[in-house]
Amino acid sequence: MRRALKRAGLSPAPKEFLESPGVPPPPRVALPGEAPGTESPIDWAAFFGRVSAVELEIGSGRGRFLTDAAAERPGTSFLGAEIELEYTRIAQARAEKMGLSNVRFARLDGKELVLRRVPGASLAAIHVFFPDPWPKKRHAKRRLFSPDFARAAAAALAPGGLLRVATDNLPYFETIREVLDAEPGLEKVPGSESGWSSGTDYERKYEKEGRPMARGIWRRPPRA
Ligand SMILES: C[S@@+](CC[C@H](N)C(=O)[O-])C[C@H]1O[C@@H](n2cnc3c(N)ncnc32)[C@H](O)[C@@H]1O
Repeated sequence: MRRALKRAGLSPAPKEFLESPGVPPPPRVALPGEAPGTESPIDWAAFFGRVSAVELEIGSGRGRFLTDAAAERPGTSFLGAEIELEYTRIAQARAEKMGLSNVRFARLDGKELVLRRVPGASLAAIHVFFPDPWPKKRHAKRRLFSPDFARAAAAALAPGGLLRVATDNLPYFETIREVLDAEPGLEKVPGSESGWSSGTDYERKYEKEGRPMARGIWRRPPRA
């Protein structure tokens, strides 16, 4: 992660945000306010305090994409799942500074959350921008995109719900494309490989550098 940040020209997190000793490591799937070890399906209406469309970002970093989305679409509720504690704090502080009550950030393992906690057909969108590529073969199982994640993501999306992906790692995008194209619960949105931008910190940085990037949107078919 730190190497990825350095590559992107982003500053490392302040030391005071580092995790305190004794706190169990990820995967974490308990939302703020829940007891650790909770495994029941999430009650989004209770978590956000209202009934609304819900969108999830996995790897929300410092929260730029989700805070912008939350400001633009106050009727939708947003959760940023981020495994790095310091980034959830930075993102939450950003949301508070912007006066947003429809977005939450939590230290969560987004993959495990989708596999174990997200109720079926409950999400309007899942956003994954610049996921860690884990290029070494022996680390490949740490990647977010796998057939089991694709299956769980398709089940978590409401009919017509979107899975939006962007990355600068073109070989990883080929794997992502293969995995998502092979999932029967998803279909590729025609023309979705261009014409949009996530606007995340990483995307802005890479755009300035002129780095090639790949994007795609898959959806749960509306009739599903
Ligand atoms: C390369 S950064 C991209 C951050 C942000 N999406 C952006 O585009 O600026 C990848 C982020 O994903 C987070 N991450 C990696 N695996 C994760 C997981 N399983 N669940 C949640 N966050 C994860 C990392 O901590 C890191 O903040």
